Amino acid sequence: MDAPSPNALAQRLESLALAGVTNLPKKRRVSQEPSATARQAEALVAATPSTNGPADRVQALAILRDDVAACTRCGELAAGRTQTVFGVGPADARLCFFGEAPGADEDASGIPFVGRAGQLLTKIIEACTLSRDQVYILNVLKCRPPNNRPPHPEEVANCRGYFERQLAIIQPEFICCLGTSAAQALLQTTEPIGKLRHRWFDHGTARVICTYHPSYLLRNPAAKRDVWADMKVLMAAMGVGM
Ligand code: URA
Repeated sequence: MDAPSPNALAQRLESLALAGVTNLPKKRRVSQEPSATARQAEALVAATPSTNGPADRVQALAILRDDVAACTRCGELAAGRTQTVFGVGPADARLCFFGEAPGADEDASGIPFVGRAGQLLTKIIEACTLSRDQVYILNVLKCRPPNNRPPHPEEVANCRGYFERQLAIIQPEFICCLGTSAAQALLQTTEPIGKLRHRWFDHGTARVICTYHPSYLLRNPAAKRDVWADMKVLMAAMGVGM
């Protein structure tokens, strides 16, 4: 990677200073990943988990988003993408919806869950008496896999640092995994989605629930009642009346 220009470096340092970072490591080992700035964002979050206000989290997410946008760890995905799809929503959301990977519409727009499955997810969120603006939506992978194939294990491993840091910054109270890939990636299990439903898990300080992916519902509309049952459990735990 080329050395940043003095202007870019100055901007980066200003961003870090705004985010409250006061010390930088003396040496940056080029081969070490994630980048020094991403580690600074992580350290910032880890150092002051209870005092991070929304502005700090917005800043930390912006730094991480830049790192994701420059990522080329998965050669095939980086070569095929229009852009990375980082995530959308309030940086201090109580609830995160965690999906699999961008599809064609998301790759084109840079926003997760905007295609047919996304429109169904929006309906599900609204049926819960919430709006998309109130939740954070992210995926395991930040790049579109070719032909919408499921993520390969090494791709999940490459993206793990990103989604884990994203969640560590947001510190949601609840995470809803959408489908097998998301649930297995977050919970680091090989159990199928059918076995992961109807159970609560912990991830950091978040409580995790798993349900079917909206794409599965498009193919199997009868499963909508199962997702609705899962949403009722989730909303009850969140204290959201519906
Ligand atoms: N499916 C996903 O898992 N994520 C998206 O963003 C869109 C479709």
